[in-house]
Amino acid sequence: MNQDWWKEAVVYQVYWRSFKDSNGDGMGDLQGVIEKLDYIASLGVDVIWLNPCYTSPDIDNGYDIADYYTIMEKAGTMSDLEQLIGAAHDRGLKLILDLVVNHTSDQHAWFKDARSSKSSEKADWYIWQDGVKGTPPNNWRSYFAPSPWTWDETREQYYFHSFASEQPDLNWENRDVRQAIYTMMRWWTDKGIDGFRMDVINLIKKRATFDDVENPLDLSYLGNQPGVHDFLQEMHQEVLAGTDLFTVGEIPFVGPEDGLLYVGEDRNELRTLFHFEVADDMETMDLPRFKQIQKQWYEALYPHGVASQFLNNHDHTRQVTRFGSERYRIESAKLLGLMLHTLPGIPYIYQGEEIGMTGIRFSDPDAYQDVAFRNQYAERIAAGESPGTVLSSMQMRARDNSRTPMQWNANKAAGFTESNYPWMTVNPNYLDINVEAAEQDQNSVLVFYRTLIALRKTHPVMVYGVYRDLAIQDPYLYVYERELDGVTWRIILNLHDEAVTTTLSLPKEQLVLSNYETGDTVQLARYEARLYQY
Ligand code: GLC
Repeated sequence: MNQDWWKEAVVYQVYWRSFKDSNGDGMGDLQGVIEKLDYIASLGVDVIWLNPCYTSPDIDNGYDIADYYTIMEKAGTMSDLEQLIGAAHDRGLKLILDLVVNHTSDQHAWFKDARSSKSSEKADWYIWQDGVKGTPPNNWRSYFAPSPWTWDETREQYYFHSFASEQPDLNWENRDVRQAIYTMMRWWTDKGIDGFRMDVINLIKKRATFDDVENPLDLSYLGNQPGVHDFLQEMHQEVLAGTDLFTVGEIPFVGPEDGLLYVGEDRNELRTLFHFEVADDMETMDLPRFKQIQKQWYEALYPHGVASQFLNNHDHTRQVTRFGSERYRIESAKLLGLMLHTLPGIPYIYQGEEIGMTGIRFSDPDAYQDVAFRNQYAERIAAGESPGTVLSSMQMRARDNSRTPMQWNANKAAGFTESNYPWMTVNPNYLDINVEAAEQDQNSVLVFYRTLIALRKTHPVMVYGVYRDLAIQDPYLYVYERELDGVTWRIILNLHDEAVTTTLSLPKEQLVLSNYETGDTVQLARYEARLYQY
């Protein structure tokens, strides 16, 4: 595999509204991110991915953009962002922005123009269908609403939205739309950003016809349609070719073979991608399935493309809660970290993951602010389900679980804000779980993460090594090797919440890193994770 800086990178995701509030209004902001840049740099990461901070009515926490060229007041100003870019670069950190171009806000000037009349200048910049009010054009569903079609009173037509009705999808078939997007992307790269995290980028190509589908609940008809690669190759040609920009596409509904089409090095599309075979399709850790996924992606991609490794982000509940154990929080947080940083692919750390933050569950449905939660909750209640059942079935996977404020210290509101009213409830466990406490404890998850990230910098085997699963049938142990130029790393993880005995030889002298004090030779404690070098 060719060597490239971005393959060796570790990415840190900053969900700014929950990261650090600098002005006491209860919401994080760009100045707050600047304040904490030294902390981010101290982790050893290379790239910051900043969630959307463009002007937005904030229906979907910034993923409904009303103006790509200005900054949301809650986040700060353009000059704050410029300062952040400069300050990140001063510390050797790259900064990538979210690129949300499958849809805009319904408050974007383009959409206001489009909906004003069927003959307006941008009439065709979105996706419209004739129909009868009250009977949507097909039986599809959107991610966030019962139907992806909303009736517009002025045009007396339906417009299409893969997400909430306030997020109309752009019509990528229109050349002017595409050019407007490429112009905007170039404007941002001229400003000095280092790349893009491309929001649901494989949804930009729609099906050729909007016929009914057999199973509307399987949303895969929304994305990955033939022709999507023409758009991405054009975007590459227009914006990315010849640059050093980092790009990661959010690509739902794809398996490994299709995945390679997005990231194959000879394809001129994206550098890397997020797939959803784990995040969307696995309720809790299903180790046999997880191993299969890793193996299949590795076999399909290497050495022609690179995937990404993540188990949580602002859309998915925190990894300790979902894939590890809150009871054995420290052990399982370290195990998951060790796994993500030694599997093939670029590791992403979602703010707070490095201190083992856990997901919250609210017992009051009104505490959930997320549009996805609220819409789905309302739909199910309207359908006659009981509130208790609906809440308990939605609690575990609710997106707000991972959006609670970053826990900096044991002071008021975890040191996140001076305000008495943080925009979202702080997880009450901040008294124990916070950065300040972790800094003082040599055995903390934080210290372990720093070690992992530092190892990646000095051991190319972690990045380029061949991957081999040594015990694919084992229900509890995940044992794999990475090998490069005569160096072999063997990783042994016990994902069971009880001790497990192994027949593999575990020579103590070759132990590089472990999350337990002593590595027994035949027994692995619950959530024990070890890394050996041969
Ligand atoms: C992506 C984002 C998510 C957002 C959605 C619509 O999945 O990560 O937060 O709601 O796209 O833009």
